[in-house]
Amino acid sequence: MKRDLITMLDVQDDILDILDLADRMKKERNKDHQPLKGKTLAMIFEKSSTRTRVSFEVGMIELGGFAVTLNSKDLQMGRGETVADTARVLSRYVSGIMYRAYEHSMVLELAKYATVPIINGLDNFEHPCQIMADLLTVKERFGRLSGIKMAYVGDGNNVCNSLMLGCSMVGMDISCGCPKGYEPDPGVVAKAKEIAWKRGSKLELMESPHQAAQGADVVYTDVWVSMGQEEESRMRQKVFNPYQVNAKLLSVANPRAIVMHCLPAHRGMEITDEVIDSERSVVLDQAENRLHAQKAILVTLMG
Ligand code: CP
Ligand code: NVA
Repeated sequence: MKRDLITMLDVQDDILDILDLADRMKKERNKDHQPLKGKTLAMIFEKSSTRTRVSFEVGMIELGGFAVTLNSKDLQMGRGETVADTARVLSRYVSGIMYRAYEHSMVLELAKYATVPIINGLDNFEHPCQIMADLLTVKERFGRLSGIKMAYVGDGNNVCNSLMLGCSMVGMDISCGCPKGYEPDPGVVAKAKEIAWKRGSKLELMESPHQAAQGADVVYTDVWVSMGQEEESRMRQKVFNPYQVNAKLLSVANPRAIVMHCLPAHRGMEITDEVIDSERSVVLDQAENRLHAQKAILVTLMG
């Protein structure tokens, strides 16, 4: 049976093993170990990408394989060929497919008809590869995950959904400070709460960014306007203005708190230059860890 990574829930049983593998892959980066020799990953992009595209491509090369980048507009899919047929055909050529999509349902549809593993490279609902890299980063900084307090401040979006699930799965507490009307998906909140309860950790939702950041070990934010929401920009900027991660907000966190952002950042909006360029910021480690975490995911799914 093939295995996919479409939601964080797909790694619920072995997330710590995958993170350990990522850690080892990072330490042994230059060793000549090519577990995916001769394998090919197709990468379909409906949206822009810097980190996802480059880290997956470099990751496949370092594992001995190869990656093919496909812009969805250039595929027949962009002219109406079904996702199901695209899945069936690509499965005859490649050993795995990474898909960056708008609709979560499209990723599920691709997975349903593909006979090779599907990896969600971000959709409107989740961004699991990002959160695997983020958890690896937290683990590096604190030497553990369980018991660390995460504060997520801003839009209850795809990153927030995956982060709530990921933190709950590894025993981290998470407080989300999101404006009314921009809370994370209630179904994901319920699921993450159930997992957190089993792990003895806590998930809280609140409107106040300061309350969320209070005593946090990690303060995480993401863009206010995600890809595909460009026409809501003005409205969103107004709503999210009080949610900026700046020195004042950080002053209520743990004095040794680190700051995270999945990037790309809109400096001066959700995060100030002062904060993102400070010693507390681990955004470049997060970006680098995309490579190591995804290599571990690729080996787990396609090895
Ligand atoms: N964080 C992230 O997914 O970055 P890209 O959009 O550049 O891939
Ligand atoms: N929430 C952002 C994440 C970008 C990596 C988006 O979906 O555009």
